[in-house]
Amino acid sequence: MSERRADAAFACLEAPAPRGLARLQAALVDRIKRAAIRLMHRSAAGECLILRLGYIAEVSTERALQEDWTGQMPDWLIPLNERHLADEQRHAAAFAEALRQRGVTTVDAAAPDPLSRRKIAQWRRLAHRYAPRFEQGLLVPVYATGLCAEQMAMRVLARHCAVIGENHPLYPLLSRVLSDEAHHVRLCMQVLQRLVTPGESRQLAALLAKARAIDASFGVTGALAMYLAVGFHWLHSGVRRAAAVT
Ligand SMILES: [Fe+2]
Ligand SMILES: [Fe+2]
Repeated sequence: MSERRADAAFACLEAPAPRGLARLQAALVDRIKRAAIRLMHRSAAGECLILRLGYIAEVSTERALQEDWTGQMPDWLIPLNERHLADEQRHAAAFAEALRQRGVTTVDAAAPDPLSRRKIAQWRRLAHRYAPRFEQGLLVPVYATGLCAEQMAMRVLARHCAVIGENHPLYPLLSRVLSDEAHHVRLCMQVLQRLVTPGESRQLAALLAKARAIDASFGVTGALAMYLAVGFHWLHSGVRRAAAVT
């Protein structure tokens, strides 16, 4: 198969630009999340909340990279997975250090928020449903949902960096993590192209479309939940500040 035909077979790996109603929904989600980010940066407590969310997300990715399916990996994938794991551990440590510098020494990273937990559970069910359709079994859906998660992380961090600008004190940390996540997106794409046979590429496209639909179904609810949580947090710390002054 020529390189061009191989590329066409794997065009599904790129996140598609949303169209029609999905485009409107994505624009709405983006506006709500930008407003939430601006609100979070109004207080030290809000910035700690950002760092805490970042830390929990990194620890969840780290755990996902160490789960049971790793026993099925071909030899060539083991060092790539180890390097990926080391990156995610470095990210978690960097968020933890930024929290420590702000006086936060303990963060409960036992589980992400309920909406993220539901999304992960739906992705897992999808992965197990699709595993028998690939020669490499569960590895393919795990990397496909991993790709969606890394593309989502890139979107979240790129938005955050754009809102705060490069002179903000948190910019170096967030932009460094963003550049690693962009590398992970490319890594997941390359791994999937090696794991999936050309004859399985249609199944991969169907799987990715379903994984992205699950992600999008949490879009507006997730953005509103984030805005309300941040707004409540900000209001609550404002009330505490006012109480301390009076
Ligand atoms: Fe990361
Ligand atoms: Fe990553």
